[in-house]
Amino acid sequence: MNRRRFLQTAAAASLGLLNLPVIGRAFAPSELADNSRFDIILVGTGYGSAVTALRLAEKGKRCLMLEMGMDWQASGMKFSRMAWAEKQSTWLKTHTIAPFGNYRVFPKFTGALDRIDFDQVHVYAGRGVGGGSLVNGGMSVTPRRDYFEEIFPQLDAQAFYDKYFPLANRELGVSVMPESYYRQSAYYQFSRVGEQEGCAAGYTVQKVPNVYDYDYMQKEEAGLVPKSGLQDEVIYGNNHGKKDLTKTYLKKALATGNVTILGLHRVDRIADQGDGSYALSVSQINTEGETVAQKTYHTGHLFLGAGSLGTTELLLKSHAEGTLPKLDGEVGRYWGNNGNTMAARAGLKHALGSKQASIPAAGLAKWTKGDDAVFAEIAPFPTGVDLRVALYLVINRVPKYGQLGYNAAAKRLELAWGKEHNAHMVRNAGQFLDKMNAANGGWRSTIFPKGVEPKICYHPLGGCVLGKATDAYGRLNRHKGIYITDGALIPASIGVNPYVTITALAEYCIEHVYQQDFA
Ligand code: FDA
Repeated sequence: MNRRRFLQTAAAASLGLLNLPVIGRAFAPSELADNSRFDIILVGTGYGSAVTALRLAEKGKRCLMLEMGMDWQASGMKFSRMAWAEKQSTWLKTHTIAPFGNYRVFPKFTGALDRIDFDQVHVYAGRGVGGGSLVNGGMSVTPRRDYFEEIFPQLDAQAFYDKYFPLANRELGVSVMPESYYRQSAYYQFSRVGEQEGCAAGYTVQKVPNVYDYDYMQKEEAGLVPKSGLQDEVIYGNNHGKKDLTKTYLKKALATGNVTILGLHRVDRIADQGDGSYALSVSQINTEGETVAQKTYHTGHLFLGAGSLGTTELLLKSHAEGTLPKLDGEVGRYWGNNGNTMAARAGLKHALGSKQASIPAAGLAKWTKGDDAVFAEIAPFPTGVDLRVALYLVINRVPKYGQLGYNAAAKRLELAWGKEHNAHMVRNAGQFLDKMNAANGGWRSTIFPKGVEPKICYHPLGGCVLGKATDAYGRLNRHKGIYITDGALIPASIGVNPYVTITALAEYCIEHVYQQDFA
């Protein structure tokens, strides 16, 4: 060990900092001690944070990222398959929390998939370095321009479609499955049938780009490499094939040498110090979720990327507990589930195949100007047998917003979201099923009530909306030095799977924030 490393290690040991789950080399262990001050702290390591960290780090800014989940790469653990979920599948619960079939029990562990339950909506989220990119289906969809303009009338749409969406797609490694492979793969029979049935029912087929590596997938099918997307791996993580953020934005950010990520570090509270800086109360947890250390970190530039619910909760909770007294009443508003509704048909005439890839490749659209607009992702049902059941994740408009609040007495985030918010989604998804059945045969499946489950939300959006709770570039109102980077910026709905939009918005915001606040 050289002298510098020896001194650092000795200092770290005296401060109790050995065993810190550290990734990256921006800060020596001794610089991570309690009460340390950092120029830039980012909360979370999902899309918004990963983009922001890369753009700051490549300009030479040192960034500390705090992530409550694990560093999966360093852990050496494998992600669970869906068919046989183990403790690492699920965030600190004793059983699985998938949309159905939750019969597996295990000890609590800081697993990859979390679910936050409200009365009429269950919100899923990824936990770990890489955030939602670890557990999502990789569907990388640029929104329709007319709908993007409707949701964000204040933005220069031309700039987004010329610059920020192409940039986001490039950096994320998005590609479209080769048609020759799609047409002949046994694993996409379900999707081809879905397309054919959708056409018969009058829907427009839309191919869905993905970040899955299709060269790898073809090798999976040929039996040349370990299977992942072709072996029911997705919502608990993919062990191979998927280009999650640890292989794209975060990898590049860490390669600059200007980023350090602390895993298993949860930010509990933000306190406005009144001098242009913020004190973060941080709990370091172990893999059972127990707090093993508490510290306070200080910063003048705080980028929040804890996801729609995580970011909004941190702000509302800090306000309710009196440490962020000036918080704007716009925080918590314009929340929505991106119109997510699961729908299922049974009794299909055509075989869907006993082999079904877990990575979706196509959707069916009828995106009208009214509340009946739908975009239905043709989802797999990879059970290993062909049950002739077709699943869809139906995306709708969100005409009625939800509102988040923090109940300080009960110490919990609350959401005003009732059956009335779901009503048009239930109607639309039901009509979608009925049209598909009328054109192709089959009936509404009983895995969900009348074939429709509106409580499942994979795409939480809003709570700190761009231009409402923030300025034009994500700076939080009334709080110089706090920036919102994530899905909280989008008001409730974007009409397609959202992370390409979240990525593009983060690119747009940090470009302007860097020029104005850092250059
Ligand atoms: P994101 O949720 O990615 O990251 C937030 C991070 O902050 C997490 O790592 C979290 O652990 C951390 N965090 C939260 N609170 C914290 C705290 N207090 N302290 C420290 N860290 C904290 N989208 C899409 O476009 N295509 C798709 O195919 C899918 N499929 C899909 C499937 C499933 C099962 C899920 C759950 C989600 C999807 N999504 C999706 C949605 C997509 O993954 C989601 O929109 C983005 O991950 C949101 O990105 P954000 O940057 O907002 O936060």
